[in-house]
Amino acid sequence: MTEKTNNKKRILTGDRPTGPLHLGHYIGSIQNRVKLQRKYETYILIADMQALTDNAESPEKVRKNILEVALDNLACGIDPKVCSIVVQSLVPELAELTMYYLNLVTLARLQRNPTVKGEMLEKGYGANVPAGFLCYPVSQAADITGFKANLVPVGEDQLPMIEQTREIVRSFNKIYKPVLVEPKALVSKVPRLPGTDGKNKMGKSLGNAIYLSDSSAVMAKKVMGMFTDPGHIHAHEPGKIEGNPVFSYLDAFDSDTKKVEELKKRYQKGGLGDVEVKKYLIEVLEKFLKPIRKKREELARNPKEVMKILKQGTEKGRKVATQTLKEVRQAMHLDYF
Ligand code: TRP
Repeated sequence: MTEKTNNKKRILTGDRPTGPLHLGHYIGSIQNRVKLQRKYETYILIADMQALTDNAESPEKVRKNILEVALDNLACGIDPKVCSIVVQSLVPELAELTMYYLNLVTLARLQRNPTVKGEMLEKGYGANVPAGFLCYPVSQAADITGFKANLVPVGEDQLPMIEQTREIVRSFNKIYKPVLVEPKALVSKVPRLPGTDGKNKMGKSLGNAIYLSDSSAVMAKKVMGMFTDPGHIHAHEPGKIEGNPVFSYLDAFDSDTKKVEELKKRYQKGGLGDVEVKKYLIEVLEKFLKPIRKKREELARNPKEVMKILKQGTEKGRKVATQTLKEVRQAMHLDYF
């Protein structure tokens, strides 16, 4: 049996260390991690192996961003006393699990994953996709099941990964022995935060992100340059709130929902200018980002301390994955001696 220090259910989720994290990460997953970290035994994976699947030529970028991603999580309120932050590549048991799971997945199934499909188009990979990239959902299944996670807080774009994980769990448990746990996804109230350009999704590689570490000046400049309703030229004219990211951000970050409803009504009726509503959004975001930025700066002064948190988190995480791998090997009759 898995040695459990308590009977709490488990959370595992993660981030790719390819850059600092942004508001979309916060809304999609970090907010839920922070909220649930005491209720669940929580593991946060810094997925450096996954980051390398499309960054094989930039290992130094991945290395540098391990610290950035850790700082972002801690600055948002992840408490290292109750949560373990785990560096993926230092848990090689996950790579071994990936190898076993790859035999339970077909090429056609990998090619059908809608998120991977979209990313492949975006990157223009075609048939020259790195094999590791095409297979990263299987490695993600190893992350989730290696920790026997019950719940995975993620943004909407990650739902196909959880679905694929559940399929792998069902095949494994049926063919071998029921040792793996079928996880559930936890999607936030705002499942997808658009980018500042109004495009579907905020993304590091899309140049439309506001980072948790942005200074107030940078954040304000990004907000002032945000896409709104292109048909709304004069303040007194009616404007559209659908597909208008300024209002999506207010919905996500302003707890004063009454005020947001009033602003929406005024905008739709005519009489609220883009500049005015953007200035208000800057205020709202500054209130949210200021304490995060401050804590991040404090933590960043002592990177050794942060690396120690990662080392301890990784040691704890590795124990869990080692135990799962042992059960997996037994189930597969690979326990020879
Ligand atoms: N694919 C996730 C992302 O791009 C990162 C990730 C890696 C992850 N392993 C995970 C998320 C396990 C949830 C669970 O953000």
